Amino acid sequence: MPRLVRLAVTTPLRPDPLEVEAARGAAERHGLPYVARDGRGLSRVVAEVGAEAALVLSAGRAVLSSGGAEHAWSPGMGALRLRRYLDARAGRAADPTARDPFLDAAGIEPGDAVLDCTAGLGADALVAAAAAGPRGLVLALESSRALAAWTGEGLRRFPAEAARRVEVRCADHLEHLTWSSSTPCSARPAPSPAASRWCAASPTRGRCPQRRWPRPGGWRAASWW
Ligand SMILES: C[S@@+](CC[C@H](N)C(=O)[O-])C[C@H]1O[C@@H](n2cnc3c(N)ncnc32)[C@H](O)[C@@H]1O
Repeated sequence: MPRLVRLAVTTPLRPDPLEVEAARGAAERHGLPYVARDGRGLSRVVAEVGAEAALVLSAGRAVLSSGGAEHAWSPGMGALRLRRYLDARAGRAADPTARDPFLDAAGIEPGDAVLDCTAGLGADALVAAAAAGPRGLVLALESSRALAAWTGEGLRRFPAEAARRVEVRCADHLEHLTWSSSTPCSARPAPSPAASRWCAASPTRGRCPQRRWPRPGGWRAASWW
């Protein structure tokens, strides 16, 4: 994967109005410049704001374009792991011994809030969101702004329902954990809608910011964000 520092957000050559609006919204969400495509080649779009690469957002895809090469976001093996997990949960496992070592080790249960400290392309976050189920959620931290934007926008366009429960945020995990354990709830920005829903139903309700409680096999930690 190329090392990306400065990214501009734009659309395909002939976007519809919804794609323009979505790309503008994405740029704002990720703190990146939006550049109107205006029928131009990507090198001109990128040069307009002194960027090194473009994140081209259409209705169905988040494509990273750098140095003439294009990479459509995909969770890679995450898609296969997700399908295997969902098949096994529904009793349709082709191979009943096929397990996901990450899920086995993490012991994620329905309703859990999961903090993924190294989001990358979001494969682990995606399978964690599936295991956490409809009442759970995943906050995925990624220190590279370009990668956070690419993965965040890719997941927004990924059809699996579990992807709706992953929030990708550009942050350094150590800074986030330090902030999370030392900042009282009253001094924090409003949580995302998914985090508010989870917090309202969580066993730590009203006792933020950070709690640990015993569970079979070890401690479970919760952090409100
Ligand atoms: C090996 S990848 C993670 C792969 C990911 N778990 C997946 O399923 O696709 C590691 C990622 O962690 C990010 N990273 C490294 N240090 C970090 C930090 N201090 N805070 C947040 N993200 C970090 C890197 O930019 C990189 O994208």
